[in-house]
Amino acid sequence: MRTVVFLIVLAVVWQLVFRAPLAGPIYEETAKEKIAIIGAGAGGSSSAYYLQRYSNHSYDITVFEKNFYIGGRSTTINVHDDPRWPVEVGASVFVKVNFNLAAAAREFGLNVQSYDVGKVRGKDGLAIEELFGIWDGMKFVFTASSESSWKSTIKLLYKYGTAPLRAHLLAEKASASFLAFYSQDDFPFVNLTEISRSRDLTNITSETTFDYCTGHGLSARYVNDIVQAATIVNYAQNVKQIHALGGFVCLAVDEALEIEGGNWQIFEKMLQKSGATVRLGTSVSEIDTSTKSSGKWKISIADSDKVEEFDQVIIAAPYYQTGIGGVPLRIKDASYMTLYVTLFTSTKRLSSTYFGLKPGVPVPTMICTTLADDDLAGSHTRPWFNSISIIRYIPERKEYVYKIFSPSRISPEFLQLIFDKGAEFNWVYEKIWNAYPRLDPISDFSDWKVDNDGIWYLNSIEQFISTMETSSLAGANVAALIVGANNKTVVSVP
Ligand SMILES: Cc1cc2nc3c(=O)[nH]c(=O)nc-3n(C[C@H](O)[C@H](O)[C@H](O)COP(=O)(O)OP(=O)(O)OC[C@H]3O[C@@H](n4cnc5c(N)ncnc54)[C@H](O)[C@@H]3O)c2cc1C
Ligand SMILES: *[C@@H]1O[C@H](CO)[C@@H](O)[C@H](O)[C@H]1NC(C)=O
Ligand SMILES: *[C@@H]1O[C@H](CO)[C@@H](O)[C@H](O)[C@H]1NC(C)=O
Ligand SMILES: *[C@@H]1O[C@H](CO)[C@@H](O)[C@H](O)[C@H]1NC(C)=O
Ligand SMILES: *[C@@H]1O[C@H](CO)[C@@H](O)[C@H](O)[C@H]1NC(C)=O
Repeated sequence: MRTVVFLIVLAVVWQLVFRAPLAGPIYEETAKEKIAIIGAGAGGSSSAYYLQRYSNHSYDITVFEKNFYIGGRSTTINVHDDPRWPVEVGASVFVKVNFNLAAAAREFGLNVQSYDVGKVRGKDGLAIEELFGIWDGMKFVFTASSESSWKSTIKLLYKYGTAPLRAHLLAEKASASFLAFYSQDDFPFVNLTEISRSRDLTNITSETTFDYCTGHGLSARYVNDIVQAATIVNYAQNVKQIHALGGFVCLAVDEALEIEGGNWQIFEKMLQKSGATVRLGTSVSEIDTSTKSSGKWKISIADSDKVEEFDQVIIAAPYYQTGIGGVPLRIKDASYMTLYVTLFTSTKRLSSTYFGLKPGVPVPTMICTTLADDDLAGSHTRPWFNSISIIRYIPERKEYVYKIFSPSRISPEFLQLIFDKGAEFNWVYEKIWNAYPRLDPISDFSDWKVDNDGIWYLNSIEQFISTMETSSLAGANVAALIVGANNKTVVSVP
């Protein structure tokens, strides 16, 4: 008798402790599907935002972010640590046809302002002449003043004939093909490789910028001087290496825009709107793929014993930089360009002498670079920097804020060299990025689906085009595939 009672009690306890919390049909019905997103940059934030928008908030989303801030490569810092003077260290501009970013900025009431390359903004209280120059390490191969744009245009036409116009038309055509991705016909797309082919973009991604442009009648001189200055400043790569779609993206920055106070705010607002739990300073160290059979993915957090379960996982960071261990996932490797971004302030302008100009002749406020000799393409021994520009002026301190992009560290000696003696640098900041992938010609892209049971990868899109907008589009696209709805009014991009 006592044994029977004991057994009954044991059975009840067993049910209560071990079974009930797991089984209960009521629990199953009300529980939302759990989705983990790794990375709170443009891609991860967009996936969270669009998942909830497409499903009327029917997911339970957790975003893991290694950094202590939202934005990833959209990073804003303050000059002299003063919030009055924010500047972008990573992604600085987008364009009008970046529909996702533009629509999000509108929805969130963020102020979009135009970003003029090399311009010291009028509101900063100093009108210095904006000058643009392309430096080959020994001389300026091209200079232009944006204050007299007709003069610059004539100069360009005189030197390069119709090449600038034809380059513009080629870039426009590529842009139009890409914009079809947003249409109801194309969005969401299951297979980037196939859609790129069907929209005739693979012809462009599978050739170098140099080959494609010269093959379409542009002079080698123009491609080396002008197009290359654009590919170097935007992607730290030269025209004989970077694919032509990457090259055209660099030419398409006519009307550059930025969010006042920092572009990262778009992604912060997207996450807020999604209601996702955002775990900053939390690095995912492993996705346990052996638990697949249970229908759940186990995620481990670095420096913690914590293991958490999710129904689906979206990897929204370049996989081979995430440090995620365990069984490697089926994702093609991509090598990223190391880029040094050096920001500093000085009351002085760059040295005219260093740049081969007569004393007193102002050095361009925006200097891009190209390679002196065609044969040097690839070695990148000279110049030592990709670009130098004045990005703002601080009247209160009478200081210019400079930004240098370079393939290696900018030493104090180098700074002394490019300024005249006695120049002081009051505030210096350095950030080393794995900035963007090497955009070698390519025709096959990794699939979004890393595993059929719910592991997704966004960043293969970077080898196609690496921008905030394309990462956002990848996030929206994967969100649409996960939701699986077929009402095109609901599942659409702006
Ligand atoms: C200097 C520079 C200039 C650029 N200029 C422009 C520009 O003008 N316009 C433009 O559109 N694009 C520009 N880009 C490119 C643009 O920044 C990127 O294409 C875009 O921001 C990528 O977004 P993402 O979300 O895919 O990746 P990321 O922004 O890199 O986000 C990935 C996030 O994942 C996090 N993460 C990584 N591993 C883990 C882990 N294990 N656990 C948790 N979190 C993890 C990272 O900390 C990061 O925050 C620039 C990039 C650089 C570096
Ligand atoms: C979205 O969900 C809310 C709350 O669950 C509900 O009231 C609303 O009707 C839903 N909207 C749509 C379009 O399904
Ligand atoms: C995507 O398309 C390519 C080319 O047709 C094909 O090789 C690949 O298997 C496709 N991937 C998926 C997931 O369908
Ligand atoms: C792309 O390349 C294919 C094969 O080389 C060719 O048939 C097609 O016409 C090309 N399309 C464009 C738009 O150049
Ligand atoms: C699609 O969704 C929109 C917006 O919720 C709705 O007005 C429309 O009726 C839906 N269409 C179909 C075919 O369900």
